[in-house]
Amino acid sequence: MDLLKRAEKSLEFHFERAAGSGAPPRLVEAMRHAVFSGGARVRPQLVLSVAMACGEDVPELTDAAACAVELMHCASLVHDDMPAFDNADIRRGRPSVHKAFGEPLALLAGDALIVMAYQVLLNAGQAHPERLVPLMQNLSAGVGLPSGIVAGQAWECEVKADLGQYQRAKTGALFVAATCAGALCCASDASPWATLGASLGEAYQVADDIRDVMGQAILLGKPAGQDALHARPSAASELGLDGAMAHFQSLIELATASIPLCSHRELLKQLVRREAERLVPSEAFAQYRLQQSSSRQSLSA
Ligand code: IPE
Ligand code: IPE
Ligand code: MG
Ligand code: MG
Repeated sequence: MDLLKRAEKSLEFHFERAAGSGAPPRLVEAMRHAVFSGGARVRPQLVLSVAMACGEDVPELTDAAACAVELMHCASLVHDDMPAFDNADIRRGRPSVHKAFGEPLALLAGDALIVMAYQVLLNAGQAHPERLVPLMQNLSAGVGLPSGIVAGQAWECEVKADLGQYQRAKTGALFVAATCAGALCCASDASPWATLGASLGEAYQVADDIRDVMGQAILLGKPAGQDALHARPSAASELGLDGAMAHFQSLIELATASIPLCSHRELLKQLVRREAERLVPSEAFAQYRLQQSSSRQSLSA
């Protein structure tokens, strides 16, 4: 089974199991809307592929860890889109959760998904307490303080923020949690996998900034031009578009080079390369730059 299919199947299974029966139906519907909406599932795929590289021996624990990371990611998107944050009406090409279900249920759906992530880990990890504790710590580091998603989002409320610190926390930290979870599921040392998560995660956010400038909402499945609209620190505004692209490419090279020697090194390299090209297709970038320079020339003529 390919990694994406495996991630989707596990999410369906673990979501149903953790949701149980008798919960308020509209809340469950809002949570399903947030999770089963066509995300790229890159984070769970990272968990699965690193676990395979580490000699996966408890696949049900790997599946649960992959789901927990994706549930946290989905929760962060629900809250990120709300009017108090980015006020974004679309996500993954569909109405964002607060647009479809209203703000109270969006707030609760995000909260419930965070708790569900821990429930899923607990359900699968009970039989392996010596692995469960490091997995819980790892997930908490990716989401909480001092430098997980919540801290990253909170940098937007400070007067001054360092771009790298902001991006590493808001996006990089969950990628680190993903690669490290893959190792921890197998009771392996997680530290050799941290750089892959950190550099790929930061690259992901730099790419998001580039796409935010280049993109058309219809292609992104979410509004474009948001960073400028909300005056967010952005790689494209701080480094210029070419500078941001160079930074993106160097982070991708760092990610590739950091993959430890293992039997699945090639698979992981392919995943990184495929993601890099999906995030910022080289041809689309070149065309965009060409269009920009020809419109500048016609303006100055
Ligand atoms: C979007 O993440 C938010 C960022 C951190 C840039 P993804 O690009 O992984 O979004 P989905 O899960 O595929 O929708
Ligand atoms: C989202 O950051 C990262 C989260 C932690 C939720 P952005 O606000 O830059 O991402 P998009 O563009 O809405 O996906
Ligand atoms: Mg945001
Ligand atoms: Mg946003």
